[in-house]
Amino acid sequence: CGIVGYIGHRPAIPVLLDGLKKLEYRGYDSAGVAVLEQGGITTCKAVGKLVALEDKLGADFSQTCMGIGHTRWATHGRPSDLNAHPHMDTEAKFAVVHNGIIENYLELKEWLIEQGHHFISETDTEVLPHLVEYFYQGDLVATVREVLNHLKGSFAILVMSRQNPDILVAARKDSPMVVGLGENEFFVASDIPAILNYTRNTYIIEDGEMVVLTKDGVKVMDFKGQEKEKQLYEVKWDAVAAEKGGYDHFMLKEIHEQPRALRDTLISRLEDDKVVLQEVDLTAEQLQNFRKVFIVACGTAWHAGLVGKTLIERWVRLPVEVDIASEFRYRAPLVDEHTLVVVVSQSGETADTLAALREAKRNGARVVAVTNVVGSSVAREAHDVIYTWAGPEIAVASTKAYTTQLEGMVLLGLYLAQIRGTLAPEKIKEVIAALKRIPAQAQEVIDEAEHIRDFAESFVDVEDTFFIGRSLDWNVAMEGALKLKEISYIHAEAYAAGELKHGTLALITEKTPVIALATQMDVYEKTLSNIIEVRARDARVIGVTFKGNKDLVKSVDHVIYIPETIAELAPILTVIPLQLLSYYVSVARGCDVDKPRNLAKSVTVE
Ligand code: G6P
Repeated sequence: CGIVGYIGHRPAIPVLLDGLKKLEYRGYDSAGVAVLEQGGITTCKAVGKLVALEDKLGADFSQTCMGIGHTRWATHGRPSDLNAHPHMDTEAKFAVVHNGIIENYLELKEWLIEQGHHFISETDTEVLPHLVEYFYQGDLVATVREVLNHLKGSFAILVMSRQNPDILVAARKDSPMVVGLGENEFFVASDIPAILNYTRNTYIIEDGEMVVLTKDGVKVMDFKGQEKEKQLYEVKWDAVAAEKGGYDHFMLKEIHEQPRALRDTLISRLEDDKVVLQEVDLTAEQLQNFRKVFIVACGTAWHAGLVGKTLIERWVRLPVEVDIASEFRYRAPLVDEHTLVVVVSQSGETADTLAALREAKRNGARVVAVTNVVGSSVAREAHDVIYTWAGPEIAVASTKAYTTQLEGMVLLGLYLAQIRGTLAPEKIKEVIAALKRIPAQAQEVIDEAEHIRDFAESFVDVEDTFFIGRSLDWNVAMEGALKLKEISYIHAEAYAAGELKHGTLALITEKTPVIALATQMDVYEKTLSNIIEVRARDARVIGVTFKGNKDLVKSVDHVIYIPETIAELAPILTVIPLQLLSYYVSVARGCDVDKPRNLAKSVTVE
């Protein structure tokens, strides 16, 4: 999503539309604006591209000089005019735009309904204007502060009120926000590109900060109302760099977004001792009825599915088959009403995956989708959907979508195990506790990026490389090899470490670096002997293992360490250095990182 707010001396609508256009690259499915007009708030919203909104507004739009706008990437509720922002209270006294997820919105909504409030959308955001209305006693700033006390989750919000026509109030927690400082005009947006046409002088708003904007200036304060000194930040980037948040490529930006994406995907789904998947509407009886699970997907999503297989088989004790979607349909798979089919797709539009989903439904299977795009074809056609909250992914090579899909697999595995009673309560608790640490641990891995960059140089002239590992490490090896192939055009092959000696070892020479993943401690000794085998053929070996493992360094040329976690969650962390390695190798080889040759982000042909 993207938000924009303006207060100043020009008509607000063109400024808002221009800002929203600059946020288009983030992906969206609907847009809307709200302005103050003749003592009331007028909104205009439209599903689809911004031109649809422009057409609706026409040439004869309001000339007032304050307003808020939003481009929406659907989370709660499908793309529609009603679900588009800005949202208002029943009497249209307040309008709000919001980025992020209000975790406790259902609770708040129920409570507000009891107080007589009437809701018209399926969004989490709509609780905000209603809360503002509930608490309002004349002071908009104090009201927003009160509302913030009741919110759980992540947000960047903008609030305007018809009773306070001279101010805009903004607040941020875990969702980006920047304020632009012009001459008697002020801007607020979720991202720098939206304001770059007007000013380069900004305040970067931090978590726990509120902003009050008037024509005369900007005040920043904490959620308690204590005013804060902000440092002026002059943006030196051009518009193209700004879209990437200052990173050189979308892929690098998206790698860095993983801690946030991983955290959002867990929001509302974890209690201390159990997983809650509100979106999955399966009764215990239906679940007991399944005899088999299929996971069907393409590309990176298929790799996530491979991890899902091990987790579900281990935790739920049901047989799981993982299929490439383009193969599934043509081999008359044994699917019936006792089968659970899980389709995994970032875009939710991949033609092969969609065709497989339809085939599964035709055969009477129950279909659960794990997808990143609300309202996508896969989301609409599946019986149940577990959304990954990675946000729009722009680089062709998938990064944050994969790691959040892995979380999706973990959540689904735990959920099924819980209901079928196949996992000890202590084990469920252990996984949940470890899962909660994952976003911060992902950050720790990303903090080591420089180290991986230095080391990537040594891959510039490599032609062939192998990724090896056992068990879940093998599945991650596949994703690591795919990343390197996709964006650096180096031939990379993933191999089950124990299988190398049955043929492929013949290809190992001093010219084929081997990336050996060694995080699955139950097979560690075995992996180690495979590492020794390739080293004996003069291969340079780069190992990946947990920080506490002081042993691996003795047997390899270089070690990349990841923070300690349980075996089942290790893939989420292990893949990050592999993403970074591919990225830096691609840059060093001068490749087009975000748009590799011959590939597309979403493949809608079979
Ligand atoms: C394309 C992309 C891959 C992606 C695959 C599946 O080939 O280039 O990165 O993994 O499609 O896409 P989906 O949107 O279904 O996850």
